[in-house]
Amino acid sequence: MQQKKIQLPEDEMIRQWYNVLPDIPNGIAPPLDPETMQPMGPEKLAPIFPVGLLEQEMSDQRWIDIPTEVQEILRIWRPAPLVRAENLERALGTKAKIFFKNEGVSPSGSHKTNSAVAQAYYNQREGVKRLATETGAGQWGSALSFATSKFGLECMVYMVRVSFDQKPYRKVMMNTYGAAITPSPSDITATGRAVLARDPDTPGSLGIAISEALEDASSRDDTKYALGSVLNHVCLHQTIIGLEAKKQLAMIGETPDVIIGCCGGGSNFAGLATPFLPDKLEGKPIRFVGVEPASCPTMTKGVYGYDFCDVARRTPLLYMYTLGHNFTPPGIHAGGLRYHGMAPIISAMLREGLMEAVSLHQLECFEAGTLFARTEGIIPAPESCHAVRAAIIEATIDKNEPKTILFNLSGHGLLDLSSYEKFSAGELHDYDLPAEAIAAATRDLPKV
Ligand SMILES: Cc1ncc(COP(=O)(O)O)c(C=O)c1O
Repeated sequence: MQQKKIQLPEDEMIRQWYNVLPDIPNGIAPPLDPETMQPMGPEKLAPIFPVGLLEQEMSDQRWIDIPTEVQEILRIWRPAPLVRAENLERALGTKAKIFFKNEGVSPSGSHKTNSAVAQAYYNQREGVKRLATETGAGQWGSALSFATSKFGLECMVYMVRVSFDQKPYRKVMMNTYGAAITPSPSDITATGRAVLARDPDTPGSLGIAISEALEDASSRDDTKYALGSVLNHVCLHQTIIGLEAKKQLAMIGETPDVIIGCCGGGSNFAGLATPFLPDKLEGKPIRFVGVEPASCPTMTKGVYGYDFCDVARRTPLLYMYTLGHNFTPPGIHAGGLRYHGMAPIISAMLREGLMEAVSLHQLECFEAGTLFARTEGIIPAPESCHAVRAAIIEATIDKNEPKTILFNLSGHGLLDLSSYEKFSAGELHDYDLPAEAIAAATRDLPKV
């Protein structure tokens, strides 16, 4: 019988993160100061991020030690299992082998906890008392709420309104961990009040919620800001996923032909794929496939250039694929994929031709998630359904090709059941984004 779950023994836990920055051909362009539009050093960011994270953001060290305090907490659920989706393979009638990393086993239900624990640790070490953050699907907010509870910090979460309404139990989860939460846009911040005055019925967006959390953090001395994706240090913390997967595949003598992850800001995909980049650069024929929603096609239809990470133009400008910081994506149910920009690391890999990007519609993704639930038993988060769908496409292009597919099941969907309910009632729709909408959103890109 083929081994179903490949478990890494606890004493083989990953003790160093892999920093891909030195290995990206031609590197990534520096962030720009939003006031001067000049390259920006870490000192300008020190009021909002702890030094420990800023060092990682700009580090040229390939390997960075995971602090023992962080390892201790990650050990609650890590190493995460690598699972062979043999029931799905059988249902598809494919000769491809499909493996997935199950990040849904974390306390809050997704990969986001990997970075949340590290971020809470570095903030607490530097005397920060409170963190402000945004959350799209609620997964990042839940993860940070859990992590701050472990380190005795307060946590304030601005949750994108459409997800706040779709996923009421995320709020309960965050409150249970001790965090405070408000729908975004809110009337707590000037940014939120301005958006509400313009558009009282807005579904909100991650770009708006980031602005609110940043405003909160910069208006208080005891508070710093935490971001759940996009930035280099977040992608770094997620490499524990790919590093574990590499060891687990080696245990059964497998190497992946295709590596797949869904992309919101890019962190879970970066975490799974980048530890395999050195192998690819050495000539191993590994394909990386990032999957985004057709309604928020940052990589497939966006512009590559400098842009802000938020609506209020408070953040540094990052060089990335973007749909424009003013872009408000349709209210699809994969809230964590509704982001206008893509991590500079992923953007650079795409530019260098080191990865492929595909965009998929939400109905085909929920269909894939439903098949996955009926075969493998796990109900995937709507975001993760994009990776499931792409894995199914890879496995069935030629069902006789015996390739090895590795994808990231970035989270479970047990708090997303209202989306599944709407899907099975036929109430979900696909959104095709007209070219004019993209052109209009990217028109406001800053001139650099
Ligand atoms: C389950 C899940 N997967 C994926 C994502 C997308 O984020 P990222 O691209 O940073 O991994 C999110 C974001 O909220 C998420 O909750």
